[in-house]
Amino acid sequence: MQLEYLANSTEETERIASELAKKLDTGGTKRAFIALWGEMGVGKTAFVRGFSAYFGAKGVKSPTYTVVNEYSARVTIYHFDMYRLEDEDDLLSIGYEDYVNRDAFVLCEWSENIAELLPEDRIDVTIGRVANSADSRTIKMNIPEIFSK
Ligand SMILES: Nc1ncnc2c1ncn2[C@@H]1O[C@H](COP(=O)(O)OP(=O)(O)OP(=O)(O)O)[C@@H](O)[C@H]1O
Ligand SMILES: [Mg+2]
Repeated sequence: MQLEYLANSTEETERIASELAKKLDTGGTKRAFIALWGEMGVGKTAFVRGFSAYFGAKGVKSPTYTVVNEYSARVTIYHFDMYRLEDEDDLLSIGYEDYVNRDAFVLCEWSENIAELLPEDRIDVTIGRVANSADSRTIKMNIPEIFSK
C-alpha cells in the first residue's frame, strides 16, 4: 500500500505518524521496521515522536552519543539514528540484527547510511520538503502487504 500525505506543520507530521502507529496497532501488528528517508532537518525525529506518542512514549529525541534509544511504552520502541555511523560493523557489534528480530517497533533515521542492512520486510517513510513553503512536507509511505492486512 502506498500512501501520500501533505503535512503543513510539525504537529501534522506527528499526527500522520501517530495514525500509522494506530493503523498498525489496530491491525494487530506487533512488530515492524520503519525506515525513515529524507534530508537533514526534514522531520524524521518529529515523525518518530508522533509515532511513539501513540503508544504513550515520551522524551523522544535522537540518540546522540549512542546509535539507539529505547522507549518502553505499551510496546517497545527502538529509535535508531544512523547519521553518525561510520562503519556498518559498529552497528552489527551492538546487536543490530537482534534488535531487528525482536517483537518491537524499530524506527530508523538515516536509512540511507545502512541501505544494505535494512530488512526486506519493512515500511518505508520518505519525507520531503516543499518548495516555497518552509513548514510543509510530503510524507510518502510504502506499507507492504504483510503489515496492512
Ligand atoms: N511539517 C513539518 N514536519 C516536521 N517538522 C517540521 C515541519 N515544519 C517545520 N518543521 C521543523 O523542522 C524541524 C525538523 O526537525 P527533526 O529533528 O524532526 O528533523 P530530522 O529529519 O530528524 O533531522 P536530522 O536529519 O538532523 O535527524 C523541526 O525544527 C520542526 O519544527
Ligand atoms: Mg533526527
